[in-house]
Amino acid sequence: MKKTNKIIKPSVNMAANRAQHGAKPDRSVRVWDLPTRIFHWALVLMVAIAWISAEADGSAFVIHIYSGTMIVGFVMFRLVWGIIGSRHALFVDFVFSWKTVKDYSARLLSFRPPHSVGHNPLGGWMVVGLLAVLMLVVLTGMMSSEDGYHGPLSHIGFGDMDDVHEGIVNFLGLLIFVHIVGVFAHGVVSRENLPRAMVTGIKKLPASIAANDIRTVGIIRPIIALAIGFAAVWLFWS
Ligand code: HEM
Ligand code: HEM
Repeated sequence: MKKTNKIIKPSVNMAANRAQHGAKPDRSVRVWDLPTRIFHWALVLMVAIAWISAEADGSAFVIHIYSGTMIVGFVMFRLVWGIIGSRHALFVDFVFSWKTVKDYSARLLSFRPPHSVGHNPLGGWMVVGLLAVLMLVVLTGMMSSEDGYHGPLSHIGFGDMDDVHEGIVNFLGLLIFVHIVGVFAHGVVSRENLPRAMVTGIKKLPASIAANDIRTVGIIRPIIALAIGFAAVWLFWS
């Protein structure tokens, strides 16, 4: 496994792929497994529901609590999947050193980014940022209280956590905005359709790029990750 990851790391590919920018993306490679794709679009839906329902009054506010608690499970699932998932879902595959990020950013700024098989070095840190901030949002949400509702962690909150929760939610909004702009900007510069790849699992890459279809992970590993996600939801469901 370790050896395989070494081959696909852009830190290694960066130099080899230097000449690849502009090469026609004419080969289909399966890069995202089904659990990663379902996770992504279910997360988008649930964050949207949590956001909209946050303004709800009275008993409808329960939708906010339930959708927010579901997100606890999604994040837990993704943390586990980042350790036992398929190749490009693994944290070791997309968390790069500062030097690689700097090198990639410089090439992006000169409109010549190398193709990445999984997440690119900047995108990888954005994934870490989104997951970390989502975690802070749900933690502070569970420390908040509203009209008779007391979050499952409200006893360990310090002072008025509602404002902290809202502040972090605003920061999450900013990250999501940058994430979406980044996805489309990358698409324009590299001629890759990243959202489509997140739906189908398949990226179009130039034939000259060293990339193989991901291997099927089987059923046991998704079940383990799902079980841990469900356990987290069960723990905080109130
Ligand atoms: C609530 C809004 C959103 C959140 C919280 C979010 C979060 C994330 C996360 C956590 C990942 C990492 C996926 C993984 O490896 O598991 C990701 C990747 C991705 N997201 Fe989103 N996302 C949001 C909205 C969107 C939208 C609206 C689009 C498309 C229009 C989009 C397109 C993508 C794409 C294409 C990737 C893969 C990027 C790559 O190829 O490196 N996301 N997103
Ligand atoms: C990604 C997930 C979440 C998002 C996007 C989100 C968003 C928001 C927003 C925008 C507000 C402010 C509403 C207003 O204008 O008054 C809010 C308030 C609140 N949220 Fe969340 N939230 C999330 C998760 C959670 C979770 C997991 C819980 C608890 C289990 C929670 C509990 C609360 C409570 C109790 C308030 C009311 C605070 C108050 O105004 O007094 N939230 N949330």
